[in-house]
Amino acid sequence: MEPLLRNRWNRNAEAYAELIAGTGTPYHQSILLPAIERLVGEVMGIRILDAGCGEGYLSRLFARRGAIVTGVDVSEKLVEISRVVAQQENVSVSFSVGDVCDLRDFADSSFDVVLSNLVLLNIPCLQRALAEFYRVLRPGGIVVFSIVHPAFNFYGPGRWELGERNHKTGRRVGKCFIVDKYFDERPYERFWKRRGGERFPEPITFYHRTITTYFAASREAGFQVDTIEEPQPMNDDPFFERERRIPMFMVFRLRKPET
Ligand SMILES: C[S@@+](CC[C@H](N)C(=O)[O-])C[C@H]1O[C@@H](n2cnc3c(N)ncnc32)[C@H](O)[C@@H]1O
Repeated sequence: MEPLLRNRWNRNAEAYAELIAGTGTPYHQSILLPAIERLVGEVMGIRILDAGCGEGYLSRLFARRGAIVTGVDVSEKLVEISRVVAQQENVSVSFSVGDVCDLRDFADSSFDVVLSNLVLLNIPCLQRALAEFYRVLRPGGIVVFSIVHPAFNFYGPGRWELGERNHKTGRRVGKCFIVDKYFDERPYERFWKRRGGERFPEPITFYHRTITTYFAASREAGFQVDTIEEPQPMNDDPFFERERRIPMFMVFRLRKPET
């Protein structure tokens, strides 16, 4: 892992944890998580690796449902925060510092599920991460990973053209979404904002890749691609006017063959 990227996540850790606020943003809550939970399925007694666990809210969620969860993240600061929150909430999760592209601390076939929520779009080493997920999974085990939808990512190849502000929701109405240079795979940087509108201390680095690249890299690592989903908002809140028109996220479920 490049020290620059790790340092950036460390410097952003406190702002990121604040944004997640223990349970995820409204986008996570109403769009992404229902799909993740359904694709992961029943977790009682299963061993989950939360790869790139951030402040650990998904680790805690699945641990509360009876899974044996290990969370790993490259940022020592985020791991520290995850440990403190899990302890405060009396949830048992084993958190450690590590790189999803080099999971040497974990034995072959030691997990039933690898979950990697909104992480693979932030790393330069996609193929290595998928190879490591394959190695640490038992035969028949699954990976559930999500990314911001590569075609409709306003940090990447696209942008919203926006209209007037909707006074009820506080958001500007989307006129249309413009996509360009989709095939141009490249890193890019963006500053996130705290809920109050203040900028994060450091930019976040993203790697724009096509859907085909994610699909081919999964197959190359040895996985069967089981499902691809483009989740839609689970409620009719007018706040999600834009997210009802184009998909914000994409979720993959991969399976390691039994033999
Ligand atoms: C957008 S956040 C998602 C965090 C968490 N999965 C969630 O759902 O809130 C991306 C996370 O990936 C972590 N990360 C980035 N590169 C990593 C790497 N090479 N190995 C492990 N974690 C990494 C960051 O520190 C950050 O916590």
